[in-house]
Amino acid sequence: MGREPGSDRLTESGLPIEPVYGPEDLAGWDPQEKLGEPGEYPFTRGVYPTMYTGRPWTMRQYAGFGTATESNARYKQLIANGTMGLSVAFDLPTQMGHDSDAPIAHGEVGKVGVAIDSLDDMMVLFDGIPLDKVSTSMTINAPAALLLLLYQLVAEEQGVPADKLTGTIQNDVLKEYIARGTYIFPPKPSLRLIADIFAYCRAEIPKWNTISISGYHMAEAGASPAQEIAFTLADGIEYVRTAIAAGMDVDDFAPRLSFFFVSRTTILEEVAKFRAARRIWARVMKEEFGAKNPKSQMLRFHTQTAGVQLTAQQPEVNLVRVAVQGLAAVLGGTQSLHTNSFDEAIALPTEKSARLALRTQQVLAYETDVTATVDPFAGSYVIEKMTDEVEAAAVELMRKVEEFGGAVNAIEHGFQKNEIERNAYRIAQETDAGERVVVGVNRFKLDEEEPYEPLRVDPAIEAQQAERLAKLRASRDQAAVDAALAALRAAAEGTDNVLYPMKDALRARATVGEVCDALRGVWGAYVPTDAF
Ligand code: 3HC
Repeated sequence: MGREPGSDRLTESGLPIEPVYGPEDLAGWDPQEKLGEPGEYPFTRGVYPTMYTGRPWTMRQYAGFGTATESNARYKQLIANGTMGLSVAFDLPTQMGHDSDAPIAHGEVGKVGVAIDSLDDMMVLFDGIPLDKVSTSMTINAPAALLLLLYQLVAEEQGVPADKLTGTIQNDVLKEYIARGTYIFPPKPSLRLIADIFAYCRAEIPKWNTISISGYHMAEAGASPAQEIAFTLADGIEYVRTAIAAGMDVDDFAPRLSFFFVSRTTILEEVAKFRAARRIWARVMKEEFGAKNPKSQMLRFHTQTAGVQLTAQQPEVNLVRVAVQGLAAVLGGTQSLHTNSFDEAIALPTEKSARLALRTQQVLAYETDVTATVDPFAGSYVIEKMTDEVEAAAVELMRKVEEFGGAVNAIEHGFQKNEIERNAYRIAQETDAGERVVVGVNRFKLDEEEPYEPLRVDPAIEAQQAERLAKLRASRDQAAVDAALAALRAAAEGTDNVLYPMKDALRARATVGEVCDALRGVWGAYVPTDAF
């Protein structure tokens, strides 16, 4: 929050924060109702009874750039350095369902992540990485089904059965309309595709986390902590309703829903936010949807430290910010964590900065004592009071989303986007006015910044990918590709699960762009209504 010491303070959610808290702040507060035991409803204290005393969180560093070969080398380095799970970043064309040689992809190939056009690229990406030993998250949304199936096809090549695969696809299209922008299809077919993915995974890849319902990008766009969890959980409710409407029982798919939040430097409110989110979700799942399996009520989440709080000025200071943010995530009970590299505000992380980011997690896990006992802040006057207050503020915003008729209708009215943009504007004004201190930016500046040599992606990658695609198209059985794409279109027009014909098409070496084009042909493309 970065206020001057001594000034009147509000939390990032705009809630009051007192100089001193005491027992009177928790008058009438019932620990049994509000906390329960760790690993038990309402899961305020964490989703597992032993939390990090049983197993540390998964250190999962988001990485990927250039070609599959370069990214594969980075993953092997990360594994050698002690990372516990992979997290794949895809380039924008892949995220938008375009091939590297599509005119629209020009200038973006391999930039913000790895370029994946076909099964051949995916095989290179995971070459030498045993998929039964590692859990892999893939940040992919509109084309999530394709990348999941490509992963399954690589596993088949490795001889790994699908029931041994563990990982997560982001697959959260609703937040793409609100904050992130990599949508392809309109909301209705997008939700149908997500329901097909839930059903497919239940039948074929049972340990896969089918979605990572994400508040991170909303937070990066300016959402407050209360807005972040409110709009994320409201999206979650929409997905649950969609799957139930498609005929699934809540306990058949809810145990594999997962979440993704930001962690800011404001430790106290962040810890309260994570605890409040768990409590709200547990209650919604139990009371509104009648979920009986405790796993359906558990909000399991990944955390990334706040990229937006990192600065290009005096970038080494970001190491300190990231350590503080990572600590907040751990004190809040995260299941999986990405700590940003200190140079992320400038460019893609170098090998050294990526290693330092991972080392930060290792210090938190193995040198501090915060992992020695579960939910160490429980019973703290300020944390419990804030948890209640963030919860109440989020519940109120969720009620407003319901007044629109749920998340999709609220999105169509621009509600979440407007609320987030208003908050972003407030933050910008406070920073400009110097009320919000950003060390090295509006206070404690250097007269001259030291030069910094960032990592750059080789522009030749685009031509290399185009060449690979030309070879692929020349060597594959085109009739088989055409037949598989026709079957996919037929499923998309009807009600059959699209993932089965999609897998056949990908196996026959249909490309990411061709498969997405086939679906665009049936479902159309989303055109945003900007209500702001
Ligand atoms: N006691 C007993 N068992 C325990 C335990 C404990 N204390 N702790 C963990 N375990 C078990 C779990 O039960 C689980 O086993 P199961 O699958 O059989 O139930 C196993 O150990 C693994 O633990 P978790 O499931 O807690 O941890 P994972 O790391 O496997 O999963 C997740 C975490 C949040 C559920 C999952 O969805 C995940 O990994 N998400 C990552 C998402 C991600 O990386 N996203 C990147 C986004 S970047 C982005 O968006 C880019 C940009 O635009 C910013």
